[in-house]
Amino acid sequence: MALTITPLTPAFGAEIAGIDAAKALRDAAFRPIRDAFEEYSVILLRDQGFDDASQIAFSKHFGPLEISISANPAGGTHFARQSNVDMTSGGIIAKDDRRMRYQLGNYLWHTDSSFKPVPALCSLLSAREVPPEGGNTEFASMRAAHAALPAETRRKLEGLVAVHSLAYSRARVDPTVLTPNQRQEVPAVRQTMVRSNPVNGRNAIFIGAHASHVEGWPLAEGRQFIAELMAFATQPRFTYSHRWRPGDIVIWDNRAVLHRATAYDTVKYRRLMQRTTVAGDGPTVADPLVPADQVAEMYASVGVPA
Ligand code: SIN
Repeated sequence: MALTITPLTPAFGAEIAGIDAAKALRDAAFRPIRDAFEEYSVILLRDQGFDDASQIAFSKHFGPLEISISANPAGGTHFARQSNVDMTSGGIIAKDDRRMRYQLGNYLWHTDSSFKPVPALCSLLSAREVPPEGGNTEFASMRAAHAALPAETRRKLEGLVAVHSLAYSRARVDPTVLTPNQRQEVPAVRQTMVRSNPVNGRNAIFIGAHASHVEGWPLAEGRQFIAELMAFATQPRFTYSHRWRPGDIVIWDNRAVLHRATAYDTVKYRRLMQRTTVAGDGPTVADPLVPADQVAEMYASVGVPA
């Protein structure tokens, strides 16, 4: 079958048909997927039927996998399970369970692992069980948004660095969801606010829910600037909402898009998605770690003990 590429929106995203990615792929067969990934930022493959082993094998074509932080782990450390299904009993997890509260953070626009010194290259989310309504995943093209910014704002962004923190972003939703030990494992990091694609040179705004403030600016002013950029970049003209079908896999470029989960009835319906995350190839700034004595104000602002 011939491979076809069909754009999902005028700004970004494409569906590739005519490829069986769950079978072992030769490098030459992977090449068009990688090229389309660089060009479109979000790639949809339908009817793939991945299991854990084939998803890991396919994901490794993009690069080495991250060890994932998952509140509801399954299938080993390479998976972040996005699900209300208990891996042991197979039953539905209660709404107030810590595993479900942790996942509420995914309802905020974010880019995976921007709270790590080396942020992720891409994520691959495969649909194993899908609710009949709700549970879409939404994407926002930070590249299309960057291109549409007023020139003055683009200039203002040049050279800026934002401070990203998982403790900060999770505390915005639930200050008790990370234990003190877990918080210590994810110290705050510095990330450039604009990233360039190494293949085509196109720039993208790099922010999201983990981005607390702008380094060197008063906290409130940096938060206001980030909030304005987020509001601009997540307008409908820059976004795509993916309605899942079992067998889908979506691959997104964390350098160029934000994404978020959306609500579904977690008591009535089952949702089981497995995410693999491919590590980036380096930090976005020199010295990514923020000294511990510089995070007190950020933590205090969301009720996290320093
Ligand atoms: C994620 O935030 O990585 C998962 C999104 C989803 O579950 O739809």
